[in-house]
Amino acid sequence: MPDSKILAATPDAVAEAAEALRDGRLVAFPTETVYGLGGDATCDRAVAAIFEAKGRPSFNPLIAHVASMEQAESLVELNPDAHRLAARFWPGPLTLVLPRRADSKVSLLASAGLDSIAVRMPDHPVALALIEAAGRPLAAPSANRSGAVSPTTAQHVAACLGERVSLILDGGPCRVGVESTVVDLSGDRPALLRPGGVEVETLEAVLGLVLPHAADSPDAPRSPGQLESHYAPSAPVRLNAQAVEAGWALLGFGPVAATLNLSPSGDLEEAAANLFAMLRAMDRPGLSGIAVSPIPEYGLGLAINDRLRRAAAPRGTS
Ligand code: TXA
Ligand code: MG
Repeated sequence: MPDSKILAATPDAVAEAAEALRDGRLVAFPTETVYGLGGDATCDRAVAAIFEAKGRPSFNPLIAHVASMEQAESLVELNPDAHRLAARFWPGPLTLVLPRRADSKVSLLASAGLDSIAVRMPDHPVALALIEAAGRPLAAPSANRSGAVSPTTAQHVAACLGERVSLILDGGPCRVGVESTVVDLSGDRPALLRPGGVEVETLEAVLGLVLPHAADSPDAPRSPGQLESHYAPSAPVRLNAQAVEAGWALLGFGPVAATLNLSPSGDLEEAAANLFAMLRAMDRPGLSGIAVSPIPEYGLGLAINDRLRRAAAPRGTS
């Protein structure tokens, strides 16, 4: 079978990728958070191909990526909170779940039949140029098989998806390294669905309220994608490690002697940017497990710990 083609993200390559997208084919592309597996969000066939390539359950909806406020406004109803957050954080690692517009062109497969749509404007010149050249919103989950570690380089995408994606635009390593923060603004009160690249504390300051985490509050809406086991390397993962048993590797944080260190100086931004690449690099055959140093539970630490808890969760059978 033909391997996926990795192309440096030159203007010509972006034009070729946009053509493929307009044809209903899939393209992996860089964003500031992780690489996305993109398809035309308005085309059922392209969206179905994304679910197929990822092995993703079809009840887990996709984010529609846009390049302008106008494009966002054509898909969803923006309320005052949405305008405030978009003005402050877009383009950037923030996804807003908003009521679907009656005339929205986004495929119902992409939103898993919900009456809301998740929208985000990525802060990456290649992603923005691609969406603009394609002339339509792009549905794009992280470009990995469902349940696996998210890709932060073009090489990770090729290793994970292989021939399932024909074209990968290479924009180098992703700057943020963890996925976008997902906030639900479709209900009566805003709720946090996933901690991510925008710090929750900053969002709360802009909104002027404490964001309930959907996972902690029974009445808040649940994000269908927040499955327990995810981001899982093949070796078992143990959190809050103070010591390491024989045969295990230590993923460190702060001034500790470790196999690899997310940030020797204890910088959470650096740790987020290194997280997925280091989990991959440590995941070697013969390793008994990966122990991880404690990570503080604030700022980007919330997103890092969320991903690590899923990596450490008991693995399902599916
Ligand atoms: O940083 C990111 O967000 C990356 C890059 C590629 O943009 N994308 C990404 O997509 O992480 P994905 O599909 O791996 O995660 C999307 C999350 C899932 O947890 C999904 O359940 C949730 O957003 N989601 C999407 N649409 C939703 C909706 N209408 N209501 C509630 N949750 C939704
Ligand atoms: Mg994902």
